[in-house]
Amino acid sequence: MRKILIIGIGSGNPEHMTVQAINALNQADVLFIPTKGAKKTELAEVRRDICARYVTRNDSRTVEFAVPVRRTEGVSYDGSVDDWHQQIAAIYERLLADELGEEGTGAFLVWGDPMLYDSTIRIVERVKARGQVAFDYDVIPGITSLQALCASHRIPLNLVGKPVEITTGRRLHESFPGRSQTSAVMLDGEQAFQRIDDPDAEIYWGAYLGTPDEIVISGRLAEVKDRILETRAAAREKMGWIMDIYLLRKGADFEE
Ligand SMILES: C[S@@+](CC[C@H](N)C(=O)[O-])C[C@H]1O[C@@H](n2cnc3c(N)ncnc32)[C@H](O)[C@@H]1O
Repeated sequence: MRKILIIGIGSGNPEHMTVQAINALNQADVLFIPTKGAKKTELAEVRRDICARYVTRNDSRTVEFAVPVRRTEGVSYDGSVDDWHQQIAAIYERLLADELGEEGTGAFLVWGDPMLYDSTIRIVERVKARGQVAFDYDVIPGITSLQALCASHRIPLNLVGKPVEITTGRRLHESFPGRSQTSAVMLDGEQAFQRIDDPDAEIYWGAYLGTPDEIVISGRLAEVKDRILETRAAAREKMGWIMDIYLLRKGADFEE
């Protein structure tokens, strides 16, 4: 039966690759690499670099495929994501049927870790449910951008004995500072931190983590907010794209 390996490749630094991930890469007959459009060629480049560094067998192949752009106009958020996943599932199904022999092993190289704000696992499950191609699959964990953020700032993720909420920019207002003392924010196209008005809030922000272009800024939110906004806008203008993540926190490890 065909075998799929969903491999977490870390968040930008090829040295994030674990030994397990490297071994999995070398089990694959075909390496599937998503390309996300011209502006993010650097991301496809990191995947190519990883293959060049770590693939030691010389009989495997790389197959690049374009990821469709999600349609957002005239549909609800859930409907738009559902349609998008359906389109990608059809692409995966075709890749498995056309590019992998019946006993072949294919690998999807997933940014960071496949369990964190990534839909490869659920899309692969969709393909399985469609029942057109028989296969089994395994997931190999990777270093997330959240781990990379904490490492670059040299901070623990949680305050002692306290919970952490991981959320998106769109939903940050539900989380911090009311419900959570530590909120990690990903996928934030609106810089939702600028609307947080809390004198005790601190922010740990990072962009292009793990890459040569990494930028990190931290401090009291009210004091560094504008610097982050300016730095982010300038970097985005220069690079043509940006990926950033941040942690908002208030309180202390040991409180009365
Ligand atoms: C679709 S999610 C994928 C997350 C990934 N699976 C992970 O484990 O980190 C993309 C979001 O992750 C964050 N991200 C991923 N890589 C990053 C990096 N190198 N630097 C900063 N943020 C990153 C950003 O918030 C971005 O919007």
